[in-house]
Amino acid sequence: MKVSTLLPNRWGLGVILSGLALLGACSYTHETIPEPACPSLPAAISYKTHVLPILQDDCYRCHDSQHYQTLALGVFNMENFNEVKYWSTPANGQNGQSWMMGNMLSQPGFKPMPYDGVHGPSACEIALIKAWIDAGALNN
Ligand code: HEC
Repeated sequence: MKVSTLLPNRWGLGVILSGLALLGACSYTHETIPEPACPSLPAAISYKTHVLPILQDDCYRCHDSQHYQTLALGVFNMENFNEVKYWSTPANGQNGQSWMMGNMLSQPGFKPMPYDGVHGPSACEIALIKAWIDAGALNN
């Protein structure tokens, strides 16, 4: 066979191979797409509708009225709204950050919450709680 007849085939093979490589790169890129952005925050954030279910899911197993007294220092019964409000108030925290937010974000100087690192709130849920605190941490 003449070289001139082989060359186009080799080029063709090259095109197919680079096509496959591109496809591979595309599917790889697809898998590393970051999580979708948070759903937009509700215009009016309600403690009972939006915040409480998150605390019940992620925090009550240690912070409800049955369990909180077994915690070190016996702090923070989340079933008592006044305590939720106290720990959510930035002025009662440190460096302008509330214990609620600092703990959930595992910031330096704060204790990571949940304490055991299991089944914590998502970044979007933390953003929602922050918006509720910023709006005055109302019992609404
Ligand atoms: C596995 C048990 C556990 C879970 C779940 C848990 N906590 Fe705690 N929490 C603790 C313990 C223990 C303390 C007391 C820590 C101490 O004083 O050393 C505490 C204390 C706190 C305090 C008081 C301030 C402080 O730093 O002592 C806040 C605020 C708090 N937790 C927020 C949360 C939030 C918000 C969640 C849910 C996202 C949560 N915790 C889930 C165990 C837990």
